Amino acid sequence: SIPIFITVAEYRGWRRKAFAENKSVGFVPTMGALHDGHLSLVRRSLAENDLTVLSIFVNPAQFSPHEDLTTYPRTLERDLEVLAEQNVAMKQPSAVFLPSVKEMYPGGIHQDVSQQRGTFVEVKGFGEQMEGKSRPTFFRGVATVVTKLFNAIEPTNAYFGEKDIQQAFLLRRMVTDLLLSHPSPDHVHIVPTVRDASDNLALSSRNAYLSTSGRKVAPTLYASLQVAQGYWANGGSKSECINAATSFVQQRVEEAKAQGLDVNMKLDYIEMNQVRDFEVVDDDATRHLREEDPIILSGALWVDKTRLIDNILLGAQ
Ligand code: PAJ
Repeated sequence: SIPIFITVAEYRGWRRKAFAENKSVGFVPTMGALHDGHLSLVRRSLAENDLTVLSIFVNPAQFSPHEDLTTYPRTLERDLEVLAEQNVAMKQPSAVFLPSVKEMYPGGIHQDVSQQRGTFVEVKGFGEQMEGKSRPTFFRGVATVVTKLFNAIEPTNAYFGEKDIQQAFLLRRMVTDLLLSHPSPDHVHIVPTVRDASDNLALSSRNAYLSTSGRKVAPTLYASLQVAQGYWANGGSKSECINAATSFVQQRVEEAKAQGLDVNMKLDYIEMNQVRDFEVVDDDATRHLREEDPIILSGALWVDKTRLIDNILLGAQ
């Protein structure tokens, strides 16, 4: 079975040995409720490193008081089974890091930001855009916990999903800004989104919240982003793309109603932002911009009480 480290001190003994033996350590941070999206990060890490560490920690600092911290799916036993079955050329993850809240926040952690004391990491100008507009303290919580995890794990390489594209780019920027060496900025890797093969729904731990009807309509988000992508490819302006995607969602809402599906679907936003600085793309974005700078087309959709996010990178490669 895979060794589990509960404390940083225990883990450090293991890590020292890896340093001494010159072994590379790949790291996959997660909040558990593992699915094939997480496992694709694990597979990348197994393929590219001597050793692989996966962490499972539901980080209180990235949930605001009204969010789903207490109900977030926790399936530890199954997660450990799934990892043990994971097998790339006979390799399994080398270790799981499973810290307590006390271990990660020795001075305690308050849900309410105004009550928090101690050290936090903010990636200014990046954390306020896109998802940060809907979830103002989210990226501060993510950047803080990932800094702590990087300091504890000291990985050679770290792996993040394109599913949470803003998180991945923001963390790469944070690693650059803080002059981190474990990992170094060019060792922060972004892995393509894994989708349900039947309807392209991006895999997510939060999909577990969806009712049968909710699950049926959930692919609407990615489909709407594909509509926008199509308009963009044909030279459409940003607003044409977003309007087309928004009408598409509206149409799906009507269809769900007509079918008598018991579900409440509401678009939170669809936007286009520069990868470079996450700034919102101007509506009169030029050809030059289209070709030179990749753009994140992203959106969030409420399906009943579940907020789903997804994105497409435009003009990449
Ligand atoms: P979590 O939502 O558990 O996701 C862990 C990692 O898996 C993230 O890098 C995420 O982008 C990636 N991931 C999730 N769904 C994916 C999919 N369908 N395809 C590919 N990758 C996918 O993201 C977090 O946890 C937390 O914010 C964390 C970074 C662990 C900090 O607490």
